[in-house]
Amino acid sequence: MKHTKVKDLLNSTRSLHEVKAKGWVRTFRNNQFIALNDGSTLHNIQCVVDFENTPDETLKRITTGAAIAVTGDLVESQGAGQKFEIKVKHLEILGDSDPDKFPMQPKKHSLEFLRENAHLRVRTNAFGAIMRVRSVLSFAVHQYFQEKGFVYVNTPIITGSDAEGAGEMFKVTALPFDNTPRTEDGKVDYSEDFFGKETNLTVSGQLEGETFAMALGQIYTFGPTFRAENSNTSRHLAEFWMIEPEVAFNDLDDNMDLAEDFIQYVIRYTMEKCADDLKFLETRLLDEEKAKPQAERSELALLEKLNFVLENNFKRVSYTEAIDILRNCKPNKNKKFKYPIDEWGADLQSEHERYLVEKHFKCPVILFDYPANIKAFYMRLNEDGKTVRAMDVLFPQIGEMVGGSQREERYDVLVEKMDALGIDKEELNWYLDTRRFGSAVHSGFGLGFERLVLFVTGMSNIRDVIPFPRTPGNAEF
Ligand code: 4AD
Ligand code: MG
Repeated sequence: MKHTKVKDLLNSTRSLHEVKAKGWVRTFRNNQFIALNDGSTLHNIQCVVDFENTPDETLKRITTGAAIAVTGDLVESQGAGQKFEIKVKHLEILGDSDPDKFPMQPKKHSLEFLRENAHLRVRTNAFGAIMRVRSVLSFAVHQYFQEKGFVYVNTPIITGSDAEGAGEMFKVTALPFDNTPRTEDGKVDYSEDFFGKETNLTVSGQLEGETFAMALGQIYTFGPTFRAENSNTSRHLAEFWMIEPEVAFNDLDDNMDLAEDFIQYVIRYTMEKCADDLKFLETRLLDEEKAKPQAERSELALLEKLNFVLENNFKRVSYTEAIDILRNCKPNKNKKFKYPIDEWGADLQSEHERYLVEKHFKCPVILFDYPANIKAFYMRLNEDGKTVRAMDVLFPQIGEMVGGSQREERYDVLVEKMDALGIDKEELNWYLDTRRFGSAVHSGFGLGFERLVLFVTGMSNIRDVIPFPRTPGNAEF
């Protein structure tokens, strides 16, 4: 007999004769009530064991973590808390779990402990919910772009160019570490390497994505990216997933519209599909916040926060306006910022971004027109000659969710910029071809997927929204 998912059993509209369920025991009470979870939903199904007619040997093996199969009738439950339960006629232990050794006891564990057990933490309610939400969010990403006719492009993971200067890159090599081939001047001889040149893990698919946008019109990437920056923060991973749309003929305003519409769409979609999981995560967050001092508590509960983002336009503010606000704000005057804002041109730190979003505007903010010298070489220079058509979308609690720009489509201006920055034109000759042959206005952005999952789940550490986090000093599993 084929088993039915717990989710479908719980959603049944009537009692059913003879059903089968398979899953893992969460708890077993009074030698009678099993809470069984199979991951299809947050909720457990209660399985009532006929303990008088079940051998003691079997009852002893119904322990937290054990995999079991039960067959019986699905009947309306007498107990509070669930509509249906299974009256067990037959129970089979599929895989035992030693109750003294299984780390996921039915009690509250610290997030640190759970991180060390990332292979088992997904068996808890919170991580089950987070990972289902993550899955639905990623489907929503594809659905949004596919509905709009974007082409999904898989840009390379091993790259031959340090496109962005977006941070330290991880080298990819097949050369031996001892006895490394060297050139005459003592440098590593990459011509002897697997690809015959130096290669790295990609930090962004943008530059390759641009070449596709200049043929297919609207494209997006959604893949892993790697940064070897030593940022041990709750917002940085060394391996994270990025979504990068790139659209021919879009200017910066179109780009902002796209980012806003996209984020609202995927959040709305996920709220519809993951109502139970999000409700659970909201309650979890409220519990967590009770432990914090009043001043640090969020004013809105999770679902209110998500609804707020759906119902309000993101505030669009130029870098210059933002600097004015920051220069004159209380924390700056009272020297509360670690990096005080003195003058135009300063790079914004996360403390400044959070002030703007959480204290000043109290809504998501899109900052645009940044000083050219703090942004990447490919961003379009404004007529003022000192700012570029860059945009960052900033979110409460998260900081930078999106970074993007209108691209410099003018060959001469781009080459001048590359020369000034010492960027190898030979290396990026293929990229320059997009500006040589049929160049046009185009724009795009990158959204850090884990930062989005962080926002939607209300979690506070990015290590808790990716299955197996990679951070400095940590590549377990
Ligand atoms: O702002 P970034 O560096 O932009 C780019 O890479 C551009 N090439 C994107 C484009 O225009 N196509 O990164 C984009 C986003 C950031 O806003 C942030 O959300 C996320 O990627 N991000 C990280 N997320 C987790 N861990 C890290 N170390 C991250 N670095 C960037
Ligand atoms: Mg950025």
